[in-house]
Amino acid sequence: MSLRRRTVLKALGAAAVGLPAIEDERRRAVVIGTGFGGSVTALRLARAGVPTLVLERGLRWPARPGGNTFPRLFAPDKRASWLAPGPVMTGSPLAAWAPYTGVLERVRGRGMDILCGAGVGGGSLVYHGMTIQPSEEAFARSMPPGMDWTAFDQDFYRRVASKLRPAPIPRDLLGVRQYRAAKMFHDQVSGKGLRPFRVPLPMDWDVVRRELRGELPPSYSTGDVIYGANNAGKRTLDVTYLAEAEATGLVHVQTLTLVRDIERAKDGRWVVHVDRITTGGRVAARKRIVTDALFLGAGSAGTTRLLVKAKAKNLIPDLPDGVGKHWGNNGDRIFAWTPPGDSPGALQGGPACVGVREPTLTIIHGPVPFPLDLGTTSLIGFGLVEPLGEFRYDAGKDDAVLYWKQEYDARLTTAIRDRITGIVGGSLLIDTTRFDTTTYHPLGGAVIGAVCDRYGRVRDQRGLYVTDGALIPGSTGACNPSMTIAALAERNMDAILPEVI
Ligand code: FDA
Repeated sequence: MSLRRRTVLKALGAAAVGLPAIEDERRRAVVIGTGFGGSVTALRLARAGVPTLVLERGLRWPARPGGNTFPRLFAPDKRASWLAPGPVMTGSPLAAWAPYTGVLERVRGRGMDILCGAGVGGGSLVYHGMTIQPSEEAFARSMPPGMDWTAFDQDFYRRVASKLRPAPIPRDLLGVRQYRAAKMFHDQVSGKGLRPFRVPLPMDWDVVRRELRGELPPSYSTGDVIYGANNAGKRTLDVTYLAEAEATGLVHVQTLTLVRDIERAKDGRWVVHVDRITTGGRVAARKRIVTDALFLGAGSAGTTRLLVKAKAKNLIPDLPDGVGKHWGNNGDRIFAWTPPGDSPGALQGGPACVGVREPTLTIIHGPVPFPLDLGTTSLIGFGLVEPLGEFRYDAGKDDAVLYWKQEYDARLTTAIRDRITGIVGGSLLIDTTRFDTTTYHPLGGAVIGAVCDRYGRVRDQRGLYVTDGALIPGSTGACNPSMTIAALAERNMDAILPEVI
């Protein structure tokens, strides 16, 4: 591809006011973000022979056996947070540092904060890796109309599984001391006559065995994975989809590149306004990248914020009214579970590996990596939530802010709590989400139907596509979302590629 580089601007004017000069650059296809949607999209474009620039605000985080790529929950450092002066994860001890382009962002909203990954691999860097396909009933009730369950079941979910190769915890590991908390939940479920399931995780379980033998420092086996898992072993997107895309030579991932705004030029092309930033967040250079095909894969929060800003500032005229709306937290709720009698112990092994499923409700045990034995562990419930949240533009911040009310998921919370009580009755249950209203599973804001057509094309905006969790109105079928986001991107790219090639 011919890359036309024209360093223009206003170099003089910019220098005069102390801003970096703006460079212009022309690209055939641009993907914003390297999470599930962005990575699938990049690989599909590469396989179709389309030279593609992928813009990622964060860093690369190459994990290796015995390495110290990621910080620990109880010894956090600047790597833990995206441009914040301390830890953004509740439960981390207090600490202070100069802001850094770390792995986890807290997007502060009104009534709900979002936690999401930042770096090459997006949410896969910080996620446990629960890779779950919803039931047909929950899929039908939560996904936009026009989705063919059979095609997802027989084709799209399988494509994702073939790349991430999810595998449940080997049965024998459930018998070791480190996995005692998971085993306790497993036995509790069986004791109620229900069938526990071992959660599919994109894991090389031999890495865990090596930790248990003392050959590697503990990371998974102490459940300390929320700022990223050391020792490698988790098949994150940077070592799967993206590695394959980059190996073609057609995909270039540009890190430390923060997209500020997107705009439609008079000739219909897409203009991406980016800041090249330092690891301290300082703007080192500004660029405008012009492209015919722009794929928004910045995650539900990132993509929605870009679209809400573009609509409010009229950078993209005629965006649909549904931009920013139909947002939900995937119906998830986290409870602290203190069983009577036996203690689940300290430093509980992970990732989250045991659960129980019903057609429209999933409950999964979440290991707690506390170094002290507090007698407590956690249970995460997933149901179907009404997507009533909304991002609104705030001119003072030049950003979009999420609005959510606790009442939106109050009934669902009661249902999850009742179901958990039915399983672990007699235990102390504390709804931690009530005190720390956050979600790891933002979904919606540019949904199919209201903003995009059935395949993620933004309505009446030729060449503009949404390819991530922003497409899905609030829930991915009462289970963790990554599998469905990736499968949806695979499906959509089947339809979109012919018009991009
Ligand atoms: P995703 O958030 O993955 O990617 C967006 C990318 O865009 C990021 O790389 C980001 O840095 C980049 N970006 C954003 N704004 C940008 C901008 N303006 N300019 C440039 N780049 C920008 N799910 C699951 O299925 N199983 C699980 O076990 C877990 N566990 C879990 C734990 C924790 C701690 C978190 C925070 C999340 C999970 N999740 C999860 C959720 C899962 O991570 C999430 O659903 C997906 O990563 C969402 O995929 P997307 O493609 O939508 O965006």
